[in-house]
Amino acid sequence: MAIYKTQKGKLLQRSPPRSSIVIILTATITCIAFFYLASSFFSSKGFSFSTIKTNLQSSNSKNHRGSEKYLYWGNKIDCPGKHCESCAGLGHQESSLRCALEEAIFLQRTFVMPSRMCINPIHNQKGILHQSSDASSEERWAASFCAMDSLYDLDLISETVPVILDNSKQWHQVLSTSMKLGSRGIANVQGVSRDDLRSKSSYSNILLLNRTASPLSWFMECRDRNNHSAIILSYSFLPLIAAQKLRNAAEKIKALLGDYDAIHVRRGDILKTRKDRFGIDRTLHPHLDRDTRPEFILCRIAKWVPPERTLFIASNERTPGFFAPLASRYKLAYSSNYSSILDPVVESNYQLFMVERLIMMGAKTFIRTYKEDDNDLSLTDDPKKNTKEWQIPVYKMDTGEC
Ligand SMILES: *[C@@H]1O[C@H](CO)[C@@H](O)[C@H](O)[C@H]1NC(C)=O
Ligand SMILES: *[C@@H]1O[C@H](CO)[C@@H](O)[C@H](O)[C@H]1NC(C)=O
Ligand SMILES: *[C@@H]1O[C@H](CO)[C@@H](O)[C@H](O)[C@H]1NC(C)=O
Repeated sequence: MAIYKTQKGKLLQRSPPRSSIVIILTATITCIAFFYLASSFFSSKGFSFSTIKTNLQSSNSKNHRGSEKYLYWGNKIDCPGKHCESCAGLGHQESSLRCALEEAIFLQRTFVMPSRMCINPIHNQKGILHQSSDASSEERWAASFCAMDSLYDLDLISETVPVILDNSKQWHQVLSTSMKLGSRGIANVQGVSRDDLRSKSSYSNILLLNRTASPLSWFMECRDRNNHSAIILSYSFLPLIAAQKLRNAAEKIKALLGDYDAIHVRRGDILKTRKDRFGIDRTLHPHLDRDTRPEFILCRIAKWVPPERTLFIASNERTPGFFAPLASRYKLAYSSNYSSILDPVVESNYQLFMVERLIMMGAKTFIRTYKEDDNDLSLTDDPKKNTKEWQIPVYKMDTGEC
């Protein structure tokens, strides 16, 4: 869609040349905006004064929805602090992004997306894709962030809710125009209710609403919405709208898998224990370690997955051969089986997980780690939600269980 394509500058170049005075004036104003917002919004890449232009009309005529007003929530999702070390995992950031997109739909505005998604290093180990024989050599992807458009297909998102990136030329134009418009250009609206933002003309007529959300969790903005029928975007909206090359990779792998089932086995960081004052290990998910071990999985999924089926396993477990006992009944497949397809497109764990998620969504029977919906099949009965109750892990299997 055009609003995203403007980033490539095609529309901008077509514009008629303006008088040099206007260009200098525009450049000056933009310079001020530039330094005022020095806080890393702008990658100076592709930023050239010769292409600055404030005629939003031409780009908006390309926007099917005709949404010429903008909503800005900040330049990082769920990342307090300056760097990416403290940011939330993909799942949280994605929920938060969905919340922001819903807000843009509600307000009928174009959403200004952060151009980057932070990656917390603890979520960026390579072990999953390249099963090395030495589990202690934890190779990581170097990136501490990835480009938003390497994860999602922004053209496709824009068909539902128009978005632009905060490093695009159009965003620069919006900022410089908002400066010129003065009080009608930009409003900082922290704490103003969404209904007021939509209906009061003092907000609804403003070009750019700066609703900078909590850096800790954008999703806080949605959490207190008690009207569930107001939820506009489904949970699968963003997973399904993965970037084209990730969707292509998933399609290729799905074709090779043929008729398959899938399990998502979350271990890793969620197994963490801490010692109580008597030195005894405690955990927030008392059965999870047991329930995600192959012996228990075999027993648990027997009623859902018949023998000889192809079972695709997505997991953050690093121990080589950890799931091998499942091979006694199933034909096992991991993303590491398809590294020739994945290596050329996957540069971070987030991208890998997005591909794995598409594969899991295509399974005939899919078993999650935790039950999230009433109809879900799950490996454990422990609740996903953090209960805040530290309990002693259980390893014994009850008689009659599973
Ligand atoms: C939006 O508001 C935040 C917080 O008030 C501020 O730091 C930021 O500079 C503003 N951004 C724009 C584009 O005005
Ligand atoms: C809940 O949201 C729906 C859809 O936005 C709306 O039609 C309905 O009136 C709302 N109900 C309440 C009680 O606010
Ligand atoms: C995947 O690789 C494992 C070895 O790592 C092998 O045992 C298994 O048969 C492979 N699965 C497929 C579907 O090729």
